[in-house]
Formats: sequence, C-alpha cells, structure tokens
Amino acid sequence: MKDDELIEAARVARESAYCPYSGFRVGAALVDDQGSMHVGCNVENAAYPQGSCAETGAIAAMVAAGGKRIATIAVVGGKDEDLGFCTPCGGCRQRIAEFADAETRIIVKDDDGAWHTFTLAELLPSSFHL
Ligand code: THU
Repeated sequence: MKDDELIEAARVARESAYCPYSGFRVGAALVDDQGSMHVGCNVENAAYPQGSCAETGAIAAMVAAGGKRIATIAVVGGKDEDLGFCTPCGGCRQRIAEFADAETRIIVKDDDGAWHTFTLAELLPSSFHL
C-alpha cells in the first residue's frame, strides 16, 4: 500500500471524528502485516477521560479483524482551520509499540504542511517492554 493511500484514508477517517468538546479532529489509518488497512478516529465523551484516540480505534479495528502487526501508520489531526503537526500522544505511542517494531513508520503532517515520517524508535525511545 502506498503512503498516499494511507494518508488519504486517515484524512477521510478524520472527517468522522466525534469531538464536540475539543474540536480537534484526528484520523488514523494503518496497514497491517496482511496488507489490510484499518482506520480509526477520536471519539470523545462528556465524561472526558472516557474518550478515545484515533490510533486506539485503528488498533482495535486491526485486532478485531485478525491483524497481528502494524506495518505503517498515518495520523492526521488538528482543528479544521489549523491542520498541522499531530504526532501520536504518549499513550498511543505505547499502544502502537505493542504491535510494532523500532523501525515501524509513523507518518504525520509537519507544521509546514509537508509529510514527515518518524520511526517508532524516534517517537518512543527506550520504550517499556515486558
Ligand atoms: N487525540 C487523538 O485522537 N490522538 C492523539 O494521538 C492525540 C489526541 C485526540 C484526543 C482528543 O479527542 C483530541 O485529540 C484532543 O486531545
């Protein structure tokens, strides 16, 4: 799967975000070890801590579909008027790490509008593993 397709899927998933409290829409799309794509968006809740991140949704969809590993993940987020740099939050970095390798690519948009690819090791160095 091409990076452009993954980015576009994340962009489309972002449109479905349920975020009446923050107004911050996030979409995530990942391709798994089978070459299948899974998407997620953030889903907020009136009881704030019960909200979930886009990456969390995409990972849950992968696991439910039988996917085992994340090959690449793209994340697109921000307020509609300010769609810029949005890397996975700390919790989602750890969730990604559960199903990814140090070299797994995480694609996000830069502040200048360009697409930037990080490895998981760059975003979560010296990560916790059992
Ligand atoms: N959010 C995500 O969906 N993914 C992240 O990695 C960062 C934050 C969501 C959570 C909340 O609904 C909104 O963005 C603002 O924090």
